[in-house]
Amino acid sequence: MNSPHTPTQPLVFESDPVAMRARVAEALRGGLRVGFVPTMGALHAGHDSLVARATGECDAVAVSIFVNPTQFGPREDYSRYPRTFEADCGRLRPLGVRWVFTPSVEGMYPAGDATRVHVAGPADRWEGAFRPGHFDGVATVVAKLLSAVPATKAYFGEKDWQQSAVIRRMAADLLLPTEIVVCPTVREADGLAMSSRNVYLSAPERSRAAAIARSLERGSELWDRGVEAGEIERAARESLVELGFEVDYWSIVCEDSLVPVVELPAAAGGVRPRIITACRLGSTRLIDNRGLSPR
Ligand code: PAJ
Repeated sequence: MNSPHTPTQPLVFESDPVAMRARVAEALRGGLRVGFVPTMGALHAGHDSLVARATGECDAVAVSIFVNPTQFGPREDYSRYPRTFEADCGRLRPLGVRWVFTPSVEGMYPAGDATRVHVAGPADRWEGAFRPGHFDGVATVVAKLLSAVPATKAYFGEKDWQQSAVIRRMAADLLLPTEIVVCPTVREADGLAMSSRNVYLSAPERSRAAAIARSLERGSELWDRGVEAGEIERAARESLVELGFEVDYWSIVCEDSLVPVVELPAAAGGVRPRIITACRLGSTRLIDNRGLSPR
């Protein structure tokens, strides 16, 4: 017998949030586990890995494609963000996805729209400081998407570590019924984390970009040797600056609170440390992160 997510099934497109919720509600009433992968399109193997995890764990999977205007700053790349809808559908078809949710901006932000979800705590620093309003946009759209697609489980990537921490915080605080699952980062052969924004890199920038992932590996080695966090951070920032990067931040933090370990009391136990970084190469901003072993 065919499983409910046989790869040959045709994709069902839905752009209306209310109709989308009805489709998901019917599947849930029928006893199916529904998986959901929110995306902004320009899909790559990183997105595929979330979809594969979802189809492996659930009976019916929805993927949303929505370039969310409220998470882009006024001088950011909303209008030039890559939009590759036909190619995205071509990727999703063989993966066994059931629904592709493609809301319009007006559908997600109806006339008179006046509500924003603001998460403090893990959203306050790093990306939150360098991109004011970004996480309000992310939290707001993810809350809306989870309202339209009230899935059993929703899948996010470790690639955007702080985003995943903000979404886990929001889901817990708003008592959302959907389980948040965070999946490992998929990388290119040279270690560069896959990202829809990598297409902005020129050929020489692209070959230099792998230095970010190497700095994380090096940082992890030094950490395992017992080198002090502040010293590791300074060395990493210096070496990236020497290679021509502008380093917005490169820091070792508690992976849940996003507080730098150098600010934590020496006796703080149970901290799961993680390096997080954002670097600019020319006009392209790249982020990456890596978990460290607890000390
Ligand atoms: P987008 O950048 O399209 O990413 C969609 C999901 O794919 C996110 O959860 C992201 O962390 C994950 N992802 C991206 N690159 C990955 C990689 N190399 N390996 C594993 N997972 C990866 O993140 C967003 O969209 C938006 O902010 C969104 C959550 C959809 C809200 O608008």
